[in-house]
Amino acid sequence: MEHAAALAPVTHRQPAAHAQARVAAASRTGVVRLPTFRHLGSWRVQSSAPEETSTVVYGGGSSAANKQPRRPQDQQAAARRVTLATLRGKHQRGEPISMVTAYDYSSAVHVDSAGMDLVLVGDSAAMVAHGHDNTLPISLDLMLQHCRAVVRGAPRPLVIGDLPFGSYESSPAQAVESAVRLMKEGGVDAVKMEGGAASRVSAARAIVDAGIAVMGHVGLTPQAISVLGDFRAQGKTVNSALKVVEAALALQDAGCFAVVLECVPAPVAAAATAALQIPTIGIGAGPLCSGQVLVYHDLLGMFQNPDHSKVTPKFCKQFGDVGAVIGKALAEYRQQVEAGSFPGPDHTPYKISSVGVAVFADALRNIGLDGAAAAAAAAAAADAGKTEKIVGDGKPQEGDNINNGILSSAGAAV
Ligand code: KIV
Repeated sequence: MEHAAALAPVTHRQPAAHAQARVAAASRTGVVRLPTFRHLGSWRVQSSAPEETSTVVYGGGSSAANKQPRRPQDQQAAARRVTLATLRGKHQRGEPISMVTAYDYSSAVHVDSAGMDLVLVGDSAAMVAHGHDNTLPISLDLMLQHCRAVVRGAPRPLVIGDLPFGSYESSPAQAVESAVRLMKEGGVDAVKMEGGAASRVSAARAIVDAGIAVMGHVGLTPQAISVLGDFRAQGKTVNSALKVVEAALALQDAGCFAVVLECVPAPVAAAATAALQIPTIGIGAGPLCSGQVLVYHDLLGMFQNPDHSKVTPKFCKQFGDVGAVIGKALAEYRQQVEAGSFPGPDHTPYKISSVGVAVFADALRNIGLDGAAAAAAAAAAADAGKTEKIVGDGKPQEGDNINNGILSSAGAAV
């Protein structure tokens, strides 16, 4: 397979002749294409090199089926899917790219409905979904579970699966094997990996070679917590700032389609964005990136308790107060359960006929369950009373209390 980096955009380091040779090589060999496992039948262009639509391989043939217009809903769904070509188009037009994490089906459904471009099934799941202090403990098998759930809930955005700590550092072969699992078993469209050291760049190159789109991640790389000591901004000295930009360029050269810049000063992010021809996605890196990413739980304000400040970064803007809404709803539910006011008639929908109740009660008494027979009869009597009241004025009456009703009528029924 032709090396995908041959298709990568020309960087500032490449002389024009070299660039022309790359373009010539690409046109000789054709573009490496990546099947999407979620969207069978559609093919996406690998890495940062989208192809002209006229060169799309499938869609030919002369059968009647091929000439049938596609169903409008299928056309709309296909048109709305985010691909690497969509991404590149946005980047070229200077349109900001939106990205957020998701870890399960329900968050993925929300993210899809919100029209997000990219969804990252981040290893931040270790912290926000599993309660760990850092991202290291999450396994590839657990990441695969999260990926599958997100893919089911988010058919429109491009879904990126994070390679967790321990799944790609040993060798490029290990990196390819893990990335293939995320694609085949997790159903994602692309993978992300942390770090810009030479070994990571080789791993990224090997994954791209294997036909898998890779997003890089430099600046603060949380999986390096053991050597970093804590979660701290990077690129604050001249040397470290240069390293961030150089690492991003090396990842671009390896064929990455985009690079996350985490927790670096805005001028460093701006420099990387200007130096790269692929999009930069910032998190705690200021506004001068090609796009932004935030962790789902952080931006929604899911964690309100001060105990959770360990997983809530300072740079995150809270766009919602979801934690407070959840807390209020749960407290009300608990109070109503404890007061016996939930479930009331509106939430007790399943009926049994009065004849059925009588026969049921007889059957219970015949097997010695007199108390159970009385309870069933009392509940039916109370239910009949409620139904009459509801029919009477269309609303449950103040003071309706199923528990009390059952208890008082139970005495009468026995
Ligand atoms: O795991 C994650 O959520 C990430 C983002 C912070 C970019 O890597």
